Amino acid sequence: MSFKIERVKTGIPGLDELLNGGIPKRNVVLLSGGPGTGKSIFGQQYLYYGLQNGEPGVLVALEEHPVQIRRHMAAFGWDVRKYEEEGMFAIVDAFTGGYGEAAKRERYVVRSVDDVAELIDVLKEAIRDVKAQRVVIDSVSTLYLTKPSVARSIMMQLKRVLSGLGTTAILVSQVSVTERGFGGPGVEHAADGIIRLDLDEYNGELVRSLIIWKMRGTKHDMRRHPFEITDKGLVVYHNKVIRFRGDRVVFEEA
Ligand SMILES: Nc1ncnc2c1ncn2[C@@H]1O[C@H](COP(=O)(O)OP(=O)(O)OP(=O)(O)O)[C@@H](O)[C@H]1O
Ligand SMILES: [Mg+2]
Repeated sequence: MSFKIERVKTGIPGLDELLNGGIPKRNVVLLSGGPGTGKSIFGQQYLYYGLQNGEPGVLVALEEHPVQIRRHMAAFGWDVRKYEEEGMFAIVDAFTGGYGEAAKRERYVVRSVDDVAELIDVLKEAIRDVKAQRVVIDSVSTLYLTKPSVARSIMMQLKRVLSGLGTTAILVSQVSVTERGFGGPGVEHAADGIIRLDLDEYNGELVRSLIIWKMRGTKHDMRRHPFEITDKGLVVYHNKVIRFRGDRVVFEEA
């Protein structure tokens, strides 16, 4: 008997080619990168692609106000309100703590934003309600910034819920500009996959690139590829590889 692995397409142009078709279903993938590298946009693009293809999703907002997220998504042409009304999409508000007028209109609110148990309860409810197949948590770093010793345990709890309920998840992980890692030892090993986004300055110019560091359950491209953020979101140049030669950056045909 052979098991064909089911894959979930990221929908990000150029990326599924590097993933041999997509992310293996039920994988929990760490999306790691410094400030401004495109992690939030990546997550939103992944969710919106799912919605357009009949796959419901949940976005857990820990860094930005849900109202701001909807607005930012709409600016890329990703208007999620229709999908929220249809019950295909939900934002879990783990940002406002329920404060403010706008927060009163949110359906899934985590009252104590530091309470991981409450967050997981609200997340489970949202996943079940919309029958989510895709989940994005932006960002998981927020959950354990002040307590790195519990990072692995939080990660394992999330994995059990996300994978257990059949979702394929992107967990945004923030690292500092100079950090080579992906978000700490407990977390990096627990993740089923790691995709790293980078922004490097060469000769006074910022260059975006991406590398797939690991992806359980599949072979994947091992090279660093340039990508861009456009008005339609991320575009990965899977036919180009990036090489750094001294202070020069060179794009070569892959
Ligand atoms: N319409 C657009 N066209 C091109 N680039 C854009 C556009 N909108 C945003 N960007 C770029 O995307 C960056 C923000 O990306 P994003 O919010 O996904 O970063 P992030 O990795 O989530 O950062 P942080 O860790 O600070 O939250 C901006 O700094 C800008 O360079
Ligand atoms: Mg962000």
